[in-house]
Amino acid sequence: MSTAKSSNPERRNRRAERLDGIGCVVTGGASGIGLEVARELARLGGAIGILDLDEEKARSTALLIGRDYSCKSAGAAADVVDAAGVRSAFGELGARIGPIGVLVNCAGIMTPRMVPLTEMPISDFEDMLNVHVKGTFICSQASLASMQRQAFGRIINISSVLGILGLPFRIGYATAKAAIIGFTRSLAVEVARQGVTVNAVAPGYILTSTLQQRVDAGMIDYARLAERAPVGRWGLPEEVARVIGFLALPGSAFITGAIVPIDGGYTVRGDPNEAIGDRPASLDPVRDMFRT
Ligand SMILES: NC(=O)c1ccc[n+]([C@@H]2O[C@H](COP(=O)([O-])OP(=O)(O)OC[C@H]3O[C@@H](n4cnc5c(N)ncnc54)[C@H](O)[C@@H]3O)[C@@H](O)[C@H]2O)c1
Repeated sequence: MSTAKSSNPERRNRRAERLDGIGCVVTGGASGIGLEVARELARLGGAIGILDLDEEKARSTALLIGRDYSCKSAGAAADVVDAAGVRSAFGELGARIGPIGVLVNCAGIMTPRMVPLTEMPISDFEDMLNVHVKGTFICSQASLASMQRQAFGRIINISSVLGILGLPFRIGYATAKAAIIGFTRSLAVEVARQGVTVNAVAPGYILTSTLQQRVDAGMIDYARLAERAPVGRWGLPEEVARVIGFLALPGSAFITGAIVPIDGGYTVRGDPNEAIGDRPASLDPVRDMFRT
């Protein structure tokens, strides 16, 4: 009998490249980037738990994903800032999808009003830190024991180009997104020998349906912000989701503490006024790539 390892690459890579049987929780998974992340993790074979403030949407999204990808799925409501509520929702999700091995901290809110520091209500600042930073802390804390028991875990946080660069009138959001980078790096070191990786992505402008509505309503200038990015366009939620899916895989075990920009080159452009050619006329070719 031969003892040689299989040379079939499909079989060799299956464990590294799939999330089969792994419980994956996405906070803020009922809409926007989180929703695409949940779909991508399901496509990779994961069992999907959606945690969101919006209970109805969390449950209906989970139901749809379960049906579309023939996977275990469940939705639960919680505010990521409420530690007891998160623990109870994680328990509910874990009972339906199995032990949690992947956590994507995607719940987030936008700057409610863009004003100078001197005019910014302290409550706006606190809301930003609470949802993004405290929420990431609470959800990571609530899922870590399960990951440690399995000697496998993937925590993926969402920072932003604003965690790296400065822009005026968004002090709360920028502070929160920079804090997520610090959290990611230190937790990555803390749990590295326990089979758990901790990474963050730093998206640029991503055209979620909420932002598309604002662009359509003339509240946001798509073209101006697209021009600032070297690739000349915004990104799609699917383009963020595929990176997060990759970081979640068992085979991505050697990537930890990384902050991965997904910004069309936004953060590497030295001179935004230097001419580098025309922008793409439309996002349609990118949309087509992801159409099922
Ligand atoms: N869209 C972008 O251009 C962009 C760019 C960089 C970073 N981000 C970050 O990506 C993440 C997702 O953003 P999005 O654009 O998809 O937003 P979104 O508004 O489309 O989705 C956010 C989801 O989080 C949920 N949520 C909000 N507060 C919550 C709370 N306290 N507890 C539980 N759930 C809560 C909402 O109900 C919603 O379903 C956020 O952290 C955001 O800061 C977005």
